[in-house]
Amino acid sequence: MKSIVVLASGNGSLFQALADASAQEKIFSISALVVDRKDTYAVTRATKFGIPAIEIPFVDYEDDHWQRLLKETVLSLQPDLVVSAGFMRIIRSDLFLKCPTINAHPSLLPEFPGAHAVQDALAAGADVTGATVHLMDAGIDTGRILAQKEVVVLPGDTSATLHERIKTVEQIQLVSVVTDICSGKLKIGE
Ligand code: GAR
Repeated sequence: MKSIVVLASGNGSLFQALADASAQEKIFSISALVVDRKDTYAVTRATKFGIPAIEIPFVDYEDDHWQRLLKETVLSLQPDLVVSAGFMRIIRSDLFLKCPTINAHPSLLPEFPGAHAVQDALAAGADVTGATVHLMDAGIDTGRILAQKEVVVLPGDTSATLHERIKTVEQIQLVSVVTDICSGKLKIGE
């Protein structure tokens, strides 16, 4: 069975979907959840599953120590795959070169990269946005796209209502991509 490390920053609904799938399908196991702040709900979810949670509180973007600590902590767990699932920090190290790393993003990349994808789609008056899973590279939300699905913007949507619908799609999409990578169905190497 393949081993994954999940990175998250907050609520952890994507982490929860992965943890549910790992308990049911036995195709991958989550060796740890790594979070960048204290007292996240994602950690509460991990505790319920008996999955170790490691807190590496973020300091600031100039903090090379934090970047190094994150990379070393993740690599020490020797994962087959790193999954950024609602991790709201830019990873400036070369972690993705040392271990395959994927990221879930709440838009149809390359549209609306960055930390405010849902608000940006609404502000732009988009009729359709969506969910993407992509390989991580040195850019911000620029790596090779592995899966995408559209989500229609409804009249009266707020960023909260739209984001909830996107997350429902993301949960299924991310589990599917991780399952396919870990089962060998989806090749992400050269
Ligand atoms: C998800 O929509 C994920 O795509 C997004 O954060 C949310 C996490 O939800 N990530 C980004 O925006 C990264 N740029 P969750 O905390 O409920 O799993």
